[in-house]
Amino acid sequence: MKNIFLIGMMGSGKSTIGKLLSKKLSIPIIDMDDELKQLMDMSITRIFDEYGENRFRLIESTYFRECSKNDDFIYSTGGGIILDTNNQNILKTRGICFFLDCNPTILINRLDNQSQNRPLYKNDHDITTLYNSRKSLYKKCAHYTIDTSGLTKEETAIQIEKLYNENN
Ligand code: S3P
Repeated sequence: MKNIFLIGMMGSGKSTIGKLLSKKLSIPIIDMDDELKQLMDMSITRIFDEYGENRFRLIESTYFRECSKNDDFIYSTGGGIILDTNNQNILKTRGICFFLDCNPTILINRLDNQSQNRPLYKNDHDITTLYNSRKSLYKKCAHYTIDTSGLTKEETAIQIEKLYNENN
């Protein structure tokens, strides 16, 4: 079981860093949001609009529970994956989990103009509030926390690669 789980807030770079890692380590990547979009044939915003957040979480958690039974994947997860207790358990036990931490002010800059793709991002205040309410959960689920605030995505990927190799 050598899964790599990337967790953290929207805008923390999970998708891009996941792709970089996938190339470096030659491990296939599962981008959870992309998978859910394909499965439902809808944008994430439309899933939220048509079914609501609770139903989205149910679909997300069901999908995660099934696909994380496989080994040797990198998972770029959605920012809310840590909200479900079964998901927390999977993150802790089915691989090595990295929390891509980032100062909310930097997150907000990175997310500029992306609110239409992110139903939970209506204004900057939302990001800070979400970050403060979730930070301890991210930490609890992660084996390693990486502060990406002053790092490029490449630098972050290099750190994760190093830690992953130390654990194998
Ligand atoms: C969410 C983050 C999004 C997406 C959905 C909910 C969240 O994924 O799953 O909009 O609750 O933080 P990203 O973290 O990939 O943007």
